Amino acid sequence: MIDRIVDENETDNDKPDIEIEISLRPKDFDSYIGQERLKDNLKLAIQAAKKRDEPLDHILLHGPPGLGKTTMATVIANEMGSQIRVTSGPAIERAGDLASLLTNLSNGDILFIDEIHRLNRSVEEILYSAMEDFKLDIMLGKGPSAKSLRLDLPRFTIIGATTRTGDLAAPLRDRFGMINRLEFYQLDEIEKIIHRAAKILNVKIDDKAAAELAKRSRLTPRIANRLLKRVRDYADVNGDGMIDLDLSHKALGLLDIDELGLDMSDRRLLRAIIDNYGGGPVGLETLAALTSEERGTIEDFYEPYLMQIGLIERTPRGRKVTAKAYRHLNITKTKTDKQSSLL
Ligand code: ADE
Repeated sequence: MIDRIVDENETDNDKPDIEIEISLRPKDFDSYIGQERLKDNLKLAIQAAKKRDEPLDHILLHGPPGLGKTTMATVIANEMGSQIRVTSGPAIERAGDLASLLTNLSNGDILFIDEIHRLNRSVEEILYSAMEDFKLDIMLGKGPSAKSLRLDLPRFTIIGATTRTGDLAAPLRDRFGMINRLEFYQLDEIEKIIHRAAKILNVKIDDKAAAELAKRSRLTPRIANRLLKRVRDYADVNGDGMIDLDLSHKALGLLDIDELGLDMSDRRLLRAIIDNYGGGPVGLETLAALTSEERGTIEDFYEPYLMQIGLIERTPRGRKVTAKAYRHLNITKTKTDKQSSLL
């Protein structure tokens, strides 16, 4: 897939910036902007766990990429005063990998598993009793002489993150005491995040420019920070370092991101539905074939934001483009285009 400036994932282009990226991440609830309801729930759970002198219940965080699931996990660990180990579903290939991770934890530690929906089945099954009873069941040997061994584990907390709760097996989902969704941010929250990042990066940006970047950031902090860094480059080269509205328009124009934060790939997806299916509905598989994108990419990366801002709607018969999308793309509906229920 091409590297998109509006990609919610960490891309190769972010790697040189990894230390800056880490310095931009809030470390505690006070500096974490947005997700207020989730923060309230977590603060309560943390206070209660501390009062009882117990580890936190296992927590599942889900929602579109780039909204701060990993950041929230490190904030939780800091607020608990716990150590955090970070891994991901695909990195735990065998049962032995998980056994080694779990036996190296101490009481109260947090194990963060990103993309937990990608754990393989044999690993997942070991996790059930580990999460529920803090026991590790391992098989020694194979065939009739195989023996099973039960080891005690420390009292740890799993924080799982996933873009898809639907792909999580029910027994795994049921073992989380808290299941929370991270929502898209409000525009004013993204503006605050941009001002906070600008301060850390020592960049001068005025309110109008911050509002403009916020509008184009897909309501996603990771993208907002990425846009800020690219506009800062432009200001350093073509201006005096100060980011104002005029300069941010010029810099954003170069990046080909429109005023709703859509890039070429988003517009291509919308146009594919309009040009080939009269605005839809069209099934996900067909849409994937039409745009040469993976089905999961469309579900995880394109759709959530396009639905959030009302450009696409999901119907039982497939995806439909809304009247707002026609207006945004400046396309007049023809008679053969089907009527959308959204304005
Ligand atoms: N940087 C990235 N996400 C953030 C957030 N939610 N609050 C403050 N700074 C951030």
